[in-house]
Amino acid sequence: MSEKREAFVTLATNDSYAVGAFVLGNSLRNVKTTRELVVLITDEVTHHYRYRLRHVFDIVKLVDPFDSGDEKHLRLLGRPDLGITLTKLHCWRLTEFSKAVFLDADTLVIGNIDDLFTRPELSAAPDVGWPDCFNSGVFVYKPSMQTYQTIVAFALQFGSFDGGDQGLLNEFFNTWATSDINTHLPFTYNMTATSAYWYAPALNRFSKDIKVVHFIGALKPWHHLYNKDTGHLDLNEKFQEGQQPFLTNYVQRWWEIYTASVNKLPSEVSMQSPVVLLKYDFNLLYVRYLLLIVF
Ligand code: UDP
Ligand code: GLC
Ligand code: MN
Repeated sequence: MSEKREAFVTLATNDSYAVGAFVLGNSLRNVKTTRELVVLITDEVTHHYRYRLRHVFDIVKLVDPFDSGDEKHLRLLGRPDLGITLTKLHCWRLTEFSKAVFLDADTLVIGNIDDLFTRPELSAAPDVGWPDCFNSGVFVYKPSMQTYQTIVAFALQFGSFDGGDQGLLNEFFNTWATSDINTHLPFTYNMTATSAYWYAPALNRFSKDIKVVHFIGALKPWHHLYNKDTGHLDLNEKFQEGQQPFLTNYVQRWWEIYTASVNKLPSEVSMQSPVVLLKYDFNLLYVRYLLLIVF
């Protein structure tokens, strides 16, 4: 009998989110997960970043982008860039895995979360902005072509109330709030850290249990400046002053993992070489690229 395979899955449709995925992958390795790591990428991710991702993920899978193009709802969400998050739906196509956990590329894992694989589809934590909805930055699911096709058909028929995957998935798995408490993940498995309201005494009481930090909002850890020699973090001025002071520590942590992970990579220079890429990434695209250079 073949061994049961389970995986953590993330998504990057461009280099910016590929940086996030790279750090997320390394953070999962740091907590010694025993599961496989998969990153879905689209064509826009450049070779340089694909190379980096290959160093930490077991599978780097190229998928087609899905974009809702739903400007009206995305404007309401305040994130015109998030129509592309529908690309997440491809995660249901990873049927070589019996169970999987999707994590946004802007999450950072700080404690082992392999116990999530005991949860049923669809398990997720509440969204802080509307706790009767789940946040779709961390969810446990069961890959299945049938589910994939049904969700895509549902999306084509009904769209998404926020223009992104979260509105769609909450309508599709619409009994999450009321049916099975087992599908409710603790907030510590998706600690969304940039909301305007914060329950400070709870943070004080439970912060030691936090396993996944999710940097929701337009400003991501990679938008700040960090001096890798001094370890000094220079926060982006748009970062709302006084909103979540404790969050700075997690941004710092993100940068420390980023720096350590980049240092572990072989020379940056060789990463640009198509010959090295060919060695690591033997697919037709690179063969074509190499032939262009050679001839
Ligand atoms: N994403 C992406 N490219 C984009 C926007 C989003 O690959 O241009 C993916 C990425 O995995 C990201 C997720 O979709 O973490 C959800 O977007 P984001 O985390 O920015 O949304 P938020 O959690 O801030 O609402
Ligand atoms: C949310 C989630 C994110 C999702 C986005 C669009 O805020 O954090 O994962 O992609 O909404 O639906
Ligand atoms: Mn996110």
